[in-house]
Amino acid sequence: RIAYVNGQYVPYAQAGVHVEDRGFQFADGVYEVVAVKDGGFVDLEGHLVRLERSLDELRIDRPMSRAALSVVLAETVRRNRVRNGSVYLQITRGAARREFPFPDGVAPTFVAIARHLDWAKGAANAARGVAAITHPDIRWGRCDIKTVGLLPAALAKQAAKESGAYEAWLVDDQGFVTEGSSSNAWIVTKDNVLVTRKPTHEILSGITRSAVLELAKREGLKVEFRPFTVAEAQAAKEAFVSSATSFVIPVVTLDGKPIGNGGPGVVVARLRSLYEAHAA
Ligand code: PDD
Repeated sequence: RIAYVNGQYVPYAQAGVHVEDRGFQFADGVYEVVAVKDGGFVDLEGHLVRLERSLDELRIDRPMSRAALSVVLAETVRRNRVRNGSVYLQITRGAARREFPFPDGVAPTFVAIARHLDWAKGAANAARGVAAITHPDIRWGRCDIKTVGLLPAALAKQAAKESGAYEAWLVDDQGFVTEGSSSNAWIVTKDNVLVTRKPTHEILSGITRSAVLELAKREGLKVEFRPFTVAEAQAAKEAFVSSATSFVIPVVTLDGKPIGNGGPGVVVARLRSLYEAHAA
């Protein structure tokens, strides 16, 4: 395997950054995950636009142009012979003597890695439906920035794993679902209306979420942008998650309670197939 580290392609085993990298010390960095399907990127442009927004919000310098970045990602994928999988990229503020304020004159750290993924496994999950649990949302107030400060998400995902669930749906202080630990959360009402939160500071505005919204609009499906409670989700007709690596996957139980008839529903199945066609 080959990793990209600050301008060089290096063997995976030797790929490292400095001990005083601010990504390591302060989670002072941002990342993206882009799906690779049959040799092509899925929604690359959207991911790069969001990356630049995350960098701008944190005032981290862009290491290179969007076009140059795309070349690095394509080259990382090519050198690893990944036809189906994902590419992960991370940009931090850089390495500097440990001090809380931003250091002067430091170049950002930019790394990228590619990995294989078996999309057939995702399709099998989609056919069966998956379990989700709920977990308190203890993240910070700027979840719209895709930072590497992922400890609360890791704790939630670990709780899901220990319960045999695929995802943890994070719940705010008022009992409303914000999103999944690494995906956006949706429900479908009895009237086939999609419900998902507005993309505020409380959630990450998913690139897959945007694509699904566009596909749903073309299908003539109605969408309500509002929070929903755990009880409303458990009483919904269908529910699902969306993300770059999950695409669209039906959630069929929430904290052990079946959603709808406890199996994948028709609306989510339709959205999944539309999204698969979009990603092809
Ligand atoms: N996670 N919400 C959170 C908190 C996420 O971490 C992600 C993505 C999403 C979905 O966004 P998108 O559709 O752009 O992938 C929503 C990635 C896949 C990850 O951390 O691995």
